[in-house]
Amino acid sequence: MRTHYCGQVTAADLDQTVTLCGWVHRRRDHGGVIFIDLRDREGLVQVVCDPDRPEMFATAESVRNEFVLKMSGRVRRRPAGTENPNLVSGEIEVLCQDIEVLNVAATPPFQLDDDNLSENVRLTHRVIDLRRPQMQKNLMLRYKVAMAFRRFLDAAGFIDVETPMLTKSTPEGARDYLVPSRVHPGQFFALPQSPQLFKQLLMVAGYDRYYQITKCFRDEDLRADRQPEFTQVDLETSFMDEHAITALVEEMIRFVFRESLAVELPSPFPRMTYAEAMRRYGSDKPDLRVTLELVDVTDAVQDVAFKVFSGPATSGGRVAALRVPGGGAGDKALTRGEIDELTRFVGIYGARGLAYIKVNDASSPNEEGLQSPIVKNLHETALRTILERTGAQSGDLIFFGADKTKVVNDALGALRVKLGHEKGYVTGDAWRPVWVVDFPMFEYDEEDKRWVACHHPFTSPKDGHLELLGSNPGECLAKAYDLALNGWEIGGGSVRIHRADVQAQVFEALNIGPEEQQAKFGFLLDALKYGAPPHGGLAFGLDRIVTLMTGAESIRDVIAFPKTQRAQCLLTDAPSAVDEKQLRELHVRLRQKVETQVEVARN
Ligand code: AMO
Ligand code: AMP
Repeated sequence: MRTHYCGQVTAADLDQTVTLCGWVHRRRDHGGVIFIDLRDREGLVQVVCDPDRPEMFATAESVRNEFVLKMSGRVRRRPAGTENPNLVSGEIEVLCQDIEVLNVAATPPFQLDDDNLSENVRLTHRVIDLRRPQMQKNLMLRYKVAMAFRRFLDAAGFIDVETPMLTKSTPEGARDYLVPSRVHPGQFFALPQSPQLFKQLLMVAGYDRYYQITKCFRDEDLRADRQPEFTQVDLETSFMDEHAITALVEEMIRFVFRESLAVELPSPFPRMTYAEAMRRYGSDKPDLRVTLELVDVTDAVQDVAFKVFSGPATSGGRVAALRVPGGGAGDKALTRGEIDELTRFVGIYGARGLAYIKVNDASSPNEEGLQSPIVKNLHETALRTILERTGAQSGDLIFFGADKTKVVNDALGALRVKLGHEKGYVTGDAWRPVWVVDFPMFEYDEEDKRWVACHHPFTSPKDGHLELLGSNPGECLAKAYDLALNGWEIGGGSVRIHRADVQAQVFEALNIGPEEQQAKFGFLLDALKYGAPPHGGLAFGLDRIVTLMTGAESIRDVIAFPKTQRAQCLLTDAPSAVDEKQLRELHVRLRQKVETQVEVARN
């Protein structure tokens, strides 16, 4: 029906007659001349309708926004001074000879170029929202990225194998989405939280290199970077150790950025242990664009009079300082109001306060040179150590966190990122990838009072760390690695346990007894008995990578039909109630209480 995409007509087509199909983005009546910006997925082109062809002009007068048109006309140069450098077609316009209205459109619920739309409105009218040029760019980039992954993996000998969606629970640490079985009353499938166990089984089965770009389902609290169903670029390989795997994957990420964004990422990506990342950045996905760093002062404040510090310092907690250069005096100085606001901000992460010291004169580590109500309760040795370790200069401000280690890391970690970006403590680099390695095998779940796997229970301990499983699980490190980019965890993986006896030991450490092991993971333990090769792999969050590439605020902007923060699809109104008949077939009866809750939620 057409000769060109609207967005691709350029000065190279001057004097040619083109036929275009698309949507009316805007129609402007300029007393006697009508301008129509015609839009398709490749962009906009300006079409000029002169009144010298009355029939065509009458049609042009009748069209409204979002009508679907077929137009033909001659390409000519725009008059000098009216070019639009923001458009590929910005040097030219099409002088209309013929218009056909292929379809009319009701008045859309919003203007496509309205930048102040609420997300609920956008998600309710997702079809119109997806017509917006930015969304089309996002989804086309997403496709390019996925294709780049496929090309790389294909060339590296990885084969795409599909794994089941109706399966048994895979423990990635979130709640499962369950599907009741009609055939087996009272029994349920779980939707996969990842293809983890199946890809390991494929390694045992000898497929050597597997990949899949696939959906994963996790019923967890949603945030800007989390969706209940999201897409992983998932891979697994045999006979490669963690160094070989991370090297290969790093090459892949560089390839993907080069092919889809024309960006050359730094090489090699820096590597950092988990312990160092937590100590310096309070996070296992440090944003290395920010120059501010946490400094540990726990040992220096154990015997100070200020209980807020000495308490955590003597009971296994952490006291850390964050130096803000120029934050005390001068044009970068933080105001009282800003400090109060930051105190509220760290409160979100559980901090009970945000102590600070203004360094008026760095050569006097006492009440003379330092301004803060807490200084009188810190002795001079402690103050001197704090100034030395932070490298504080006159005019700086030092913030403090004192609490359980996790609270301090979360609070000061978030504070450094916020201050860094808002106040310009950044390197100026666009992209800062970093491998975080040597994760602990386990973390202690304070609520459930038990050890849980940091990555997942199929991760191999580091060489020599197996012995710690029974005696000191907290010290046991894993052959696990994450790739962080600009403060986001974009991927993670590990070398797996390939011996049944070691796997059983790890289950034991996680307090999963032999019967439960057999019931939940019998098929894996069984497979490991039949000659499992050493293997490992990793998965990237495709939605997250594309979000970072587009600069979007949430991963919902790179997913065609996402769920809201409350795990609903506003377009289709899912989830929704089902017929009693369907429930009966599935052998499911709703609890009375749940039914009323559903009613309440819907009203
Ligand atoms: P993990 O749980 O770390 O590892 O997931 C891998 C990557 O998937 C992305 N991701 C998410 N993206 C959007 N919404 C979510 N809810 C979400 N959860 C995770 C992240 C993360 O880095 N089976 C292992 C991988 C392996 O060991 O090979 C796994 O799933 O970017
Ligand atoms: P207070 O003695 O409670 O008035 O606290 C003195 C200063 O310490 C205030 O600036 C508080 O914000 C700060 N503060 C209180 N608790 C903590 C904490 N756990 N970590 C860091 N600073 C704190």
